[in-house]
Amino acid sequence: MTTAAEKRSFDELTLGEGVKLEDLLDREALAEILGSAFDLFRMTLRIFSEDGRLLADAGREIELYTYLSGFRATRLAIDQMIGAVKAKLPGPEGRVTYRCATGAEYQIVTLEYDSRSMGRMILGPYLPAEAQGIAEALLALDPNLDRAKANELFLRLPRASEESVSKIAKHLSGMLELVLFAEHRALLTSNMHLASVRESFRDLEDKNQKLQVAYDRLKELDRLKSNFLATVSHELRTPLTSIIGYSEMLVEGLAGELSGEQREFVQTIREKGEQLLALIKGLLDLSKFESGTMSLRKNNAEVAKVVNEVVSTLQPGALKKEVRLEQAVEAGLPRLWADPERLRQVLLNLAENAIKFTPPGGRVTVSAALGSMDAQPPGDVGGMVLLGTKRTAVEFRVSDTGIGIPEAERDKVFDAFYQVDSSSTREQGGTGLGLSIVRRLVEGHDGTVRIESNQPTGTVFVVSIPVRRATIA
Ligand SMILES: Nc1ncnc2c1ncn2[C@@H]1O[C@H](COP(=O)(O)OP(=O)(O)OP(=O)(O)O)[C@@H](O)[C@H]1O
Ligand SMILES: [Mg+2]
Repeated sequence: MTTAAEKRSFDELTLGEGVKLEDLLDREALAEILGSAFDLFRMTLRIFSEDGRLLADAGREIELYTYLSGFRATRLAIDQMIGAVKAKLPGPEGRVTYRCATGAEYQIVTLEYDSRSMGRMILGPYLPAEAQGIAEALLALDPNLDRAKANELFLRLPRASEESVSKIAKHLSGMLELVLFAEHRALLTSNMHLASVRESFRDLEDKNQKLQVAYDRLKELDRLKSNFLATVSHELRTPLTSIIGYSEMLVEGLAGELSGEQREFVQTIREKGEQLLALIKGLLDLSKFESGTMSLRKNNAEVAKVVNEVVSTLQPGALKKEVRLEQAVEAGLPRLWADPERLRQVLLNLAENAIKFTPPGGRVTVSAALGSMDAQPPGDVGGMVLLGTKRTAVEFRVSDTGIGIPEAERDKVFDAFYQVDSSSTREQGGTGLGLSIVRRLVEGHDGTVRIESNQPTGTVFVVSIPVRRATIA
């Protein structure tokens, strides 16, 4: 079974029942063809569509008809006659001659294309070879008619033999058929093009729909994963805090003195517990970001204090690894509208990495200075970036002389669980969560973070946090 739409597109491709003469040829083109034929043959010509609508005509005003229309009875006769000519069908032969009330003749010819009738062409009125004068019966209709004048106007009609009119008709139909052929071909080509475009469009729509379904499903899975992560992390945290708490009590001898080895073992349990707790906190942070429930407790944070805390927290570890850890904070920095706890977390993560990926003998510096940044975070194309507007920012730099991060990896290291796949990274341990949390925390402060190379070796992480106008001194 074919659907209506399929049938329509089939009709468009072949010359189905739907296609009409006027679809293939516009009226102007038809009028032009008829006009030049009239100039050549002096024969009035009309073309009608299959359903009887006049599509084009060429010829002068017929003075005889104008004159006869001035009298009631002859006007009626002329109207009737014109109606009869229009209604006359050429029949199976495709051609018929019609003698009208005045004695003049018309020839009505079928316009054929592709073995199908596309409309009619009417040639005339013309005088057949034997016509001597206007029909008596018509003149008798009104006594006021000027017979001589009517006859004179009648004789002004072009004279042609039936044979030559047939030749003109044949010539014209042949020409129209050629034009129709060319137009039909153009129509077919454009319809085929349309059909193929439509087909690709349908295909695309189909694929789009499938993609949307897959996307929705992935989103749902992602949401489930975040929920799962959040619940599991939360549930792990409580027993873990107990494990750490009890091992601390054991180390402190609250349950009796421990032997040296026992103390060492319990100490290891405690350290690993702390590591696990840090990981769980990271996961919790990440799921909070994903569910949009991370809340920052912003107030006027003092930059020098935060940097100092970070450096003193990490100093013992750095000393142990023989990495020099230094700080350099510009004097007179404005306070930042930030969550100091989270700002500390950002710098801790960066400095921890810097120490981790710097071999002994190297140097890590945490610095803060006044700088500037684009008025809006990157990605906001419609915003102020285009205007090149800058705003004041505090620029934190955590630089190290370590192994460095290759250019191609600099975007990826901010993805959760991503670690540069080199043996040195693997040796250092870690889960690859630190930087993904850093980036989200920085963005939560409308800031940006980027990676630069240190000279001659190492990495610099640059964090810019905008300064609220009111806090600029
Ligand atoms: N200062 C650095 N120098 C060289 N490579 C670095 C530096 N900081 C980060 N990286 C690379 O980026 C990766 C991702 O860092 P990220 O802090 O996210 O994870 P991690 O330190 O491996 O684990 P975690 O922070 O979760 O303990 C690191 O594994 C390392 O390959
Ligand atoms: Mg890290």
